[in-house]
Amino acid sequence: MEDSKIILIDALVKQFPIGGGEFTALDGIDLTFGKGEFAGVVGPSGSGKTTLLNIIGSLDTPTDGRVSVLDQSIGDLSHKKAARLRNEHLGFIFQTFNLLPVYTVFENVEFPLLLLKMTAASRKNAVQDALEWVGLSNKVKSRPAQLSGGECQRVAIARAMVKRPEIVLADEPTANLDAENSHNILQTMEKLNAELETTFIFATHDEKVIRYLHRKIHLEDGRVVKDELIDKKN
Ligand SMILES: Nc1ncnc2c1ncn2[C@@H]1O[C@H](COP(=O)(O)OP(=O)(O)OP(=O)(O)O)[C@@H](O)[C@H]1O
Ligand SMILES: [Mg+2]
Repeated sequence: MEDSKIILIDALVKQFPIGGGEFTALDGIDLTFGKGEFAGVVGPSGSGKTTLLNIIGSLDTPTDGRVSVLDQSIGDLSHKKAARLRNEHLGFIFQTFNLLPVYTVFENVEFPLLLLKMTAASRKNAVQDALEWVGLSNKVKSRPAQLSGGECQRVAIARAMVKRPEIVLADEPTANLDAENSHNILQTMEKLNAELETTFIFATHDEKVIRYLHRKIHLEDGRVVKDELIDKKN
């Protein structure tokens, strides 16, 4: 598993302009991720977790250094190619669910598939599979306002997983959930990681998430201060 590196990060620096100067949010990051990892970027607020995930997700670009995701160089992609990488190969789960309120559960999960060339019938199958993974097959016709917070987050996971992306990026996915829902969602993700070999990368400071991670990358002030593999064998 460790041989097939799907994310390579080399001397990554990210600076943001602030008040005439520059703020260094990521200060020389070197990391690689292999296929099928279940890893988390952890560290205090402001340490750069979201910034790092956004660059891996081609939502933002490096100031310096190189980031390669599935053999594509993030800083060098056109808007079109970056959008294509996201649409075809990446899944995103955000702290706020970002569900479309006027759409049903089915339509919310189907949404990313509309960007791909798929028939309505194969979209329907994929949505049904994804809702089964997260245990929401009985809620296809509900709208987000009719669901609990945990159910909304499960819809967001189904939406991130429906196209079976190689990589899922999850930024504080449990921030709005209670302990039981967090636990259920992490178990769902762990199952998808094992069954589909999807690579998961979390950004979190939630202990309820951290205890599930197979690898913890500790960030402080935009630097990796520790990178630990957790032995999950019983
Ligand atoms: N667009 C921006 N412009 C200026 N500074 C920014 C910008 N985005 C992030 N920063 C700064 O970069 C640093 C890292 O931010 P980031 O959002 O990556 O932190 P984080 O580790 O995700 O924190 P949290 O746990 O609070 O979500 C912070 O000091 C933040 O203020
Ligand atoms: Mg953050």
